[in-house]
Amino acid sequence: MEKKRIAIFASGRGSNARAIIDFSKTAAAFYEVVLILSNRKDAGVLKLATSKGIPSILVNKKAFKDSKLLRSQLQNAHIDLVVLAGFLWLIPPPLIAAFTRRIVNIHPALLPKYGGKGMYGHHVHKAMVAAQEDVSGITIHFVNERYDDGAIIFQSRCQIRPDDNADMIGQRVLRLEHHFYPRVINGLCRNT
Ligand code: GAR
Repeated sequence: MEKKRIAIFASGRGSNARAIIDFSKTAAAFYEVVLILSNRKDAGVLKLATSKGIPSILVNKKAFKDSKLLRSQLQNAHIDLVVLAGFLWLIPPPLIAAFTRRIVNIHPALLPKYGGKGMYGHHVHKAMVAAQEDVSGITIHFVNERYDDGAIIFQSRCQIRPDDNADMIGQRVLRLEHHFYPRVINGLCRNT
């Protein structure tokens, strides 16, 4: 069976991208990561791409919003699945239309709680501390035209202890992300 071809979009350090790439090198993998895209030239994920020998693209907002060139780049690279891993821009509707149910995202909370514009990374964990939540977790979902709104594929939860600060919650959530995101992606690639 041919492996599915994945593009990762990421804006930051790229720890999820690393976990996804590392899993792709195992015997269990039904996918390979063939492209990495970022909107920030200083993003750690671009260094990761170089060190792993994976081609990368840096996009600016105008080109991304227009998305015509990007769409053909993705199609020319025969991308089967787009994986958002800490990517902070809204995906433009033409790209969603071209990749219906073929774009997935991970969010560091149990959606629909703590989602939406401005709710990313550290902001999510800080909001949880402020609200004295006792449970957090991760959500992996298909991407639509709105932030954190598409159909949910998978969730996993973890406890928040009374003394936890935002960093401690973030680390616990990240461990779940690194374990489950590659495996959920792999399941999607096996079944399509
Ligand atoms: C992850 O925790 C991911 O869930 C979050 O950004 C972080 C990226 O970390 N995404 C969002 O908040 C999207 N709304 P990474 O660059 O180390 O993978």
